[in-house]
This record gives sequence, C-alpha cells and structure tokens, in this order.
Amino acid sequence: MSGNQTIQWFPGHMTKTKRKIQAGLKLIDLVVEIIDARIPISSSNPDLAEIIQNKPKLVLLNKSDKADKKATQLWIKHYESQGVTALAVDCKSGKGLNQFVPAVRKILSEKFKAQKAKGMVNPILRIMIVGIPNVGKSSFINRISKQTRAKVEDRPGVTRGNQWYTISSDLEMLDTPGVLWPKFDDETVGLHLAFTGAIKDNILDIELLACDFLSVMIKKPTEQFLQRFKLNASDISDITSYELLELIGRKRGMLISGGEINTERAANLIFDEYRDGKFGNITLEYPE
Ligand code: G4P
Repeated sequence: MSGNQTIQWFPGHMTKTKRKIQAGLKLIDLVVEIIDARIPISSSNPDLAEIIQNKPKLVLLNKSDKADKKATQLWIKHYESQGVTALAVDCKSGKGLNQFVPAVRKILSEKFKAQKAKGMVNPILRIMIVGIPNVGKSSFINRISKQTRAKVEDRPGVTRGNQWYTISSDLEMLDTPGVLWPKFDDETVGLHLAFTGAIKDNILDIELLACDFLSVMIKKPTEQFLQRFKLNASDISDITSYELLELIGRKRGMLISGGEINTERAANLIFDEYRDGKFGNITLEYPE
C-alpha cells in the first residue's frame, strides 16, 4: 500500500470497509488513527467517530518531520481538550515512536487493571490501525512490529485468519489496517491532499494546482520559500498566483522557444521542492 495513489471510493467500497472495521472493533481495545500532521483535517476520515462509537482512540500525527512544530503542538492540545491523546511521530525515521507503547498502556490502564483483577495472568491489549491512503500506515506497522508476526490464532468467536503483530509482551496489533476515505467532496480537502502528494499529480492539472499552492505561499510565504527563489515578501504581495508561477519559471530559466515560460515545468519543480521540504516545514491546517 505505498505512496502516491489515486483516492477513489465508491459507496460499495465504503460499506465494505466500514463493515470490516466494525468486525475488527470487536477484537480490539483501542483504535489508532494515523493522520498527516501537515493536514490533520483533510487527512482524517469524516465518519470515524460514527464507525468506532465508544472505542478509545489514539491519534498519531505522522510526518511531523514535515510539519510546523508549533502547529503540531497546537493540534496535540486541541485533541487533548477533546479528551483524545495525540502524539507527534515520524514513521520514516521512527522519531517519537518511543511514546507509543506507554501512551497506549496509559489509555488502557483501567482495562488492564480490571483484566488482572479478574485473574488474567498476562492480559494482552489489542489495537487496530486506521487511516486514509498515504498517511503512513505501512511505515508505522513496519517500524512498530519489528517484523515479528504473532502466530495465527483462532479464538472462539473470532473470524478465522486474523493475524496479529506483536508490539510488546502485552500489546498486539491487527495485521491489516483499516483503509479509510477522506472527505472528498470538500474542495480544500482535495487540494491539500494533492499538494502533499496523497493524490496522483497526473490526474490533475498541475499548473492549476501550482497556482492554488502559490496562493497559499503569497498569503503566508516562508523564509525558505522566499530565499529559494530570491524573492522579497513585497515582490509577491500583490501579484496573481499565475504571475508568481511565471516569475519562478523565469528565475529558474525554464523557457520554451519564443521566450515563453514553461509553466508546466515550473509547476512540477514547485511540488518537487515543496514535498522535499525545501520550503520549510509547512502546516496547511490549524485547529479552529
Ligand atoms: P499508507 O500505508 O498509509 O498508504 O502509507 P505508507 O506507509 O505507504 O507511506 C506513504 C509515503 O509516506 C511513503 O513514501 C512513506 O515513506 C512516507 N512516510 C510515511 N511516514 C512518514 C513520515 O513520518 N515522514 C515522512 N517524511 N514520510 C513518511 P513514498 O514516497 O511512497 O516512498 P519512499 O519515498 O519512502 O520510498
């Protein structure tokens, strides 16, 4: 389940996924929702609360290496204010993942105690991962499971074939994550998913998309962005996003015959550099 993929969901898909997750819920104690720290709103599933009902939830703000650190802290506080634990992590390098097991144990401490009180010698807590495509579910599973797969086990009342990864002596994870859909009928959500590379570029008009991205940069340019193209904030304060696209193309010598600017190349360059972190750590969405 890697990287850049088109996000396409049909009602049938959604019902099937929902049922699969709801079946999984019966086997687990905690849902771990992975979202992209740069776009916590656009990368979360609009129906998750309804799907998981009262099941406890832990949020992982993944790709925090690419997000604005202050914004990520604001998000953590925002979730806290709703009674939800959120952790900033980077599943590419593994940074922040040492907080994971202690956080799960803390959330489930009452349940753990109750199980021990009932006489269970080594109670095991079970979790399930959910998230929209490209947020880093596979990266998380690879990092946290240390590749150790628990034995296939058929417990009474449990669907055959469920497999579990061992995370620690008291923690197991369902091996298949729930792949959720984003709120795709919202234009901003679509744009933010496209900016960050969660939707394939080749199904989109890259120049239009670059103009949308540059509108964000015009409003709130980062130092790195300005330096990269040798611009001053005042140079771009009252130009259109298309003029900025042309300006960037001109500055990088992206010309076609007749002296015209190759705005398609400029658009591709902008996304390559943005996604590579060359414009700094940018969070596109803040808590209300
Ligand atoms: P998914 O299962 O939820 O679909 O996501 P997956 O783990 O496949 O990750 C999607 C892309 O995001 C991968 O990049 C992965 O390396 C990257 N990624 C995951 N977590 C992090 C993170 O915390 N920080 C950063 N910077 N990137 C992360 P890719 O381009 O598909 O592959 P590659 O460049 O790693 O080879």
